[in-house]
Amino acid sequence: MYTLTYESTATNTVQGIEMEELLEKARFNNQRDGITGCLIYYNGGFVQLLEGDKKKIEALYVKIKEDDRHKNVTLFSDDEISKRTFPNWGMAYYPINENHATKYEFEQFRRNLSMLSDLVEPTSSTAKQFWKKIKNLISDPPL
Ligand SMILES: Cc1cc2nc3c(=O)[nH]c(=O)nc-3n(C[C@H](O)[C@H](O)[C@H](O)COP(=O)(O)O)c2cc1C
Repeated sequence: MYTLTYESTATNTVQGIEMEELLEKARFNNQRDGITGCLIYYNGGFVQLLEGDKKKIEALYVKIKEDDRHKNVTLFSDDEISKRTFPNWGMAYYPINENHATKYEFEQFRRNLSMLSDLVEPTSSTAKQFWKKIKNLISDPPL
């Protein structure tokens, strides 16, 4: 098995309904293809971790790079793995949008994510890099 993690910049502010469509499609495809992972949307950027069969992940990553809903898609780690970090998650999704989040909501989100990162055991250095990136993002509060 194989895992990769990338970051990207959303081309438009992602509105709830568009994201619903994206996730529905992603979860349907991922279940079909045995792909699992986690997607974070934060301040106009995405961070995603994907895991599964190497050929399937590579094919999906080609499609994702071509997707015009985001740009500057940059891989920052990948690994061969024997165990998944998100075995039961077709595609977990954690959104936060500074424009709509109150300080309280942001704190809640930060706490939930940091709890999640303690619960989820990283099974590769790519998974560690993913969580490190997320922790960096959430340690920088919105104005
Ligand atoms: C940030 C982001 C994450 C995505 N994640 C996935 C994913 O996990 N699985 C997936 O199938 N498509 C994902 N997509 C959508 C793909 O880019 C592409 O639109 C989709 O796979 C096409 O599916 P189709 O070939 O069945 O039409 C993502 C797109 C974006 C912008």
